[in-house]
Amino acid sequence: KATPRVRQLTSSLIRHLHDFARENELTVDEWMSGVELLNEAGRMSDDRRNEGQLVCDVLGLESLVDEITYKLTSDAADEPTATAILGPFWRKDAPIRDMGDTIVSGIEGKGDRTWMHGSVSDFKTGQPISGAVLDVWHTAPNGLYEQQDSGQEDMNLRGRFTTGEDGKYNFYCLRPVPYPIPFDGPAGKILQALDRHPMRPAHIHFILSAPGYKPIVTQIFDRNSKYIEDDAVFAVKDSLLVDFKPIQGDEKADLELPYDFRMATF
Ligand code: DHB
Ligand code: FE
Repeated sequence: KATPRVRQLTSSLIRHLHDFARENELTVDEWMSGVELLNEAGRMSDDRRNEGQLVCDVLGLESLVDEITYKLTSDAADEPTATAILGPFWRKDAPIRDMGDTIVSGIEGKGDRTWMHGSVSDFKTGQPISGAVLDVWHTAPNGLYEQQDSGQEDMNLRGRFTTGEDGKYNFYCLRPVPYPIPFDGPAGKILQALDRHPMRPAHIHFILSAPGYKPIVTQIFDRNSKYIEDDAVFAVKDSLLVDFKPIQGDEKADLELPYDFRMATF
């Protein structure tokens, strides 16, 4: 729809693309390579592979837009939980699970079993938030999300949990591992052109929502993971680094991961 904002963005994009062509004296052949890259990304994109977003992410665009949009969220401990990019692998309608359940299904026995737990609170008052939904997803120990991997059960390592009156949450998951973003397509070509690797540090994704509160899209990162300083898609923030710790006396877990989320009202 031709709103003033759409008009502004479109004409600004054209201006910057023309400047890019002029500045680099872009040739017809080079421009055609760019068109082919776009077409290839389009052909590759489906429910399982979001190549358009991958391309934006290796360009650092999603992380930049995240920073611009949520610039009020700082890294300070008394601020709302920092945001991070959504990435290409969120799926809607993740299974609704009971508090204390596991999100592991079909790959029991693989990976480091982890009990994640904590609270969701109002960042200003410190009050627990009831009815907050945590939508969580992460990769299997082979570095693949379930929709990328025909060997995994549908919705493995995904779940939605709702807090009660105490604002607390807990569930079982696995310790994630670093892994490459898919690099056999246009995003990979861009990385290659820049001599960059495709690796992401180990992370777990969340979307938090609660009635009356601003939703938070974020990721937490294993502080000790490789690539923490060198994420292929530039998503790491200091306040989102977490520590997995050994746990005793839980038959279902070898590690625990405490983490508290703080939300802001609209
Ligand atoms: C990207 C993000 C992810 O969380 C991931 O697992 C793979 C790729 C991305 O931003 O491209
Ligand atoms: Fe991811």
